Amino acid sequence: MMKHINNITGMKEEIAQLKAAKKTIGFVPTMGSLHEGHLQLVEKATQQVDVVIMSIFVNPLQFGENEDFDTYPRDLANDLQLAKQHGVHQVFTPTADDMYPNTMSVTMNVQRGADILCGSSRPGHFDGVATVVMKLFNIIEPDVAYFGMKDAQQVAIIKQMVADYHLNVTIVPIPTVREEDGLAMSSRNVNLSHMERQEAPHIYKTLAEAKSKALQGHFKTVAQLEEWVNHTLKKRLVLGKVDYIYFLKFPSLTRPSTIAGSAILATAVHYEKTRLIDNVTWEQ
Ligand code: PAF
Repeated sequence: MMKHINNITGMKEEIAQLKAAKKTIGFVPTMGSLHEGHLQLVEKATQQVDVVIMSIFVNPLQFGENEDFDTYPRDLANDLQLAKQHGVHQVFTPTADDMYPNTMSVTMNVQRGADILCGSSRPGHFDGVATVVMKLFNIIEPDVAYFGMKDAQQVAIIKQMVADYHLNVTIVPIPTVREEDGLAMSSRNVNLSHMERQEAPHIYKTLAEAKSKALQGHFKTVAQLEEWVNHTLKKRLVLGKVDYIYFLKFPSLTRPSTIAGSAILATAVHYEKTRLIDNVTWEQ
């Protein structure tokens, strides 16, 4: 039987019992509207820990003023069913009032890795992510937490937070799950129009092509690689507007001087009602 807990006090009581029984806890934090990408996180967790806990909380703190907090898709009934079918043991759905009863007096401020990629066009976003993840980690006290690599910058920042604050949790990144045509699965995909949905797979196709060209030594410099992606995406996308294209070292998210090494090529594209992100990573 899957348990559904909707308040922090109740969740902490459950955790105390699990800890007393020496159960290992795997945590899958989500904002709901579950898709195969989330379910892969659950799948991995069920293989590695005794108890899988999923949180569903659309965190207001990580949305900017003009962002899609109100239109972010929500479907709790379906989420609960999917979670249950896929072996989640406990679902935690706190309210915003429970999570943020007062304006917080101490918040997380991400110092490194937040001023590039999504951070530059979404100021404060990663502070909001780090704050809620720190709170959720303190409530759930997981041994392992699972994050999708579609949000590679989030993975890098959370890993850094765990190291900086000596948190006793292992972060397990899970590869991006894609639709058959290559589009990265995202809760936001439902906000694409039919025409936008037809076009959006070009984002991944272009990144994958750039990766294969880079691995074949096609680009001499980082600037050449980024310019090729920029030019190709602009040619292929009629409805989408490219927000950024970055080639960075991963996981440090610093600018590399050459294409060699462990890297991420990431982009964000604006559509009318939503913004999509995607990336490819590689070692060479
Ligand atoms: O990746 C997400 O869905 C969110 O950023 C997270 C980690 C659940 C924090 O709100």
